[in-house]
Parts: sequence; structure tokens; C-alpha cells
Amino acid sequence: MQPAVMAHRGNSGVAPENTLAAFARAMETKAEWIELDVHLSADGEVVVMHDDTVDRCTNGSGAIAEMTLAEIKALDAGSWFGVEFAGEKVPTLAEVVALVGDRVRINVEIKSAADPMSSLKVVEVLKEGGVLEWSMVSSFGLEALVETRKHWPEGLLALITARAADLDVVIEHRLQWFNVGYWEVDEAVMRRAHGAGVKVMIWTMDDPARWKEFAGMGVDMVCTNVPHRMPV
Ligand code: G3P
Ligand code: MG
Repeated sequence: MQPAVMAHRGNSGVAPENTLAAFARAMETKAEWIELDVHLSADGEVVVMHDDTVDRCTNGSGAIAEMTLAEIKALDAGSWFGVEFAGEKVPTLAEVVALVGDRVRINVEIKSAADPMSSLKVVEVLKEGGVLEWSMVSSFGLEALVETRKHWPEGLLALITARAADLDVVIEHRLQWFNVGYWEVDEAVMRRAHGAGVKVMIWTMDDPARWKEFAGMGVDMVCTNVPHRMPV
């Protein structure tokens, strides 16, 4: 069984990360999933961006939590990557859901894990878009997953971590996915995860030459910036 491919921040190898352009490019590959990161704006909208400021990926500056959606929407989120993407906007989660529909599954990574509103709003947007059952909610912060489960008891939840030892936390909290740094994975980790009924996603693996190695271990999913290069 080959691992599934997840496009990290969309196809961020060929388009500005976490934009509709990147998600559209991901749907041109064999990726079954897209990964994206979310924060809440000052007016409570679920905004798709990795960092907690707009500084790196737009022509503006400031903290997302202190900006309204209108202020964020006024920014150019494409020019930093390439002139052909000039005018690309920062999307909301609802806009990504509307774009992808049921063509690809969405892994929403909650970045502001300490804010319980993030979980509620993410579940609401996925539900309103009709894709909740297809989706995954992930976070480095266990509290965001515990909070998400209150609103989506049967939800597909993933702990993201850079430490294999955190598999204990995943098992203890009955999470379905262990989204772990690829350098941490070996046969023993895979055996233990699968023995406990936990699936393993590795991030962020951009080397096509290592595909066979991870497929051979039984890794369930590979999260990559270059989904178009993966040999599936
Ligand atoms: O979901 C895995 C990966 O996205 C976690 O790291 O910093 O790219 O969000 P980061
Ligand atoms: Mg992420």
C-alpha cells in the first residue's frame, strides 16, 4: 500500500503557500489531501496563513489577531513568491472549502491552539461547507484537539509533533493520526502506532528518492511541499 500524498500549504513548491493558487495547483497533482494553517482575525474570521503575522507572506505587516479580515484582504499575498502571482489574496478557510469541495480532503492545522474559539469556528466552517466528515483537524497543541472534539466528537484529529515519544500522548487521548517529523519515524514507531490503531503522517518530506523507504515502513501519508514530484 502506497502512502497518500498531502500537499503542504497547498502545492507550495510552485505557488505562494496557503493561497487559492497553491490549493488549485495541488489539485492538479496526485495529492488526496491539502494541509493548511489557520488563525483567527480580530473580527473572528478563520484566516489561512502559516505565521501569526502577515509580514513574510504578504506586502503588509502586523499580527493577524489584531487585523480585521478587510485589512488582511487588502494585502497582496502572491508577489513575494513571483510576479505572476501578484494580486493573490489571503484566503479564508471558507473560500478554500468552496474551491476544493470534495475534490481533495483538507487537513486544517490550528496554530492559535490556546484560543478555544479557533476549534469552534473551524468546525463550523467545515460543517457549513459540507466537508466536515472528509476533513482532519491537526495541531501542535493538544488543547486545540481536545477542544475540537467537544464540537466534533467523531472527528479525525491529529497531533503534530517533532518527537516520536509523543505517540504516547496520541494513544492516551485516542487521536486517530500521529503527524510526526519524518526523521523520527522507524519500524518500531510504525509498529507501535499501527498496533494501537493510529495512522502516521510524516512531515515535511520533499525527497522523492526516500519515498520507497517510507512506503516500505508502512507510513500512511507523506506531507510534502512538492506533491507533483512524489512517485505515486
Ligand atoms: O502538519 C505538518 C506541518 O504543517 C507542521 O509544521 O510549521 O509547516 O505548520 P508547519
Ligand atoms: Mg502546517
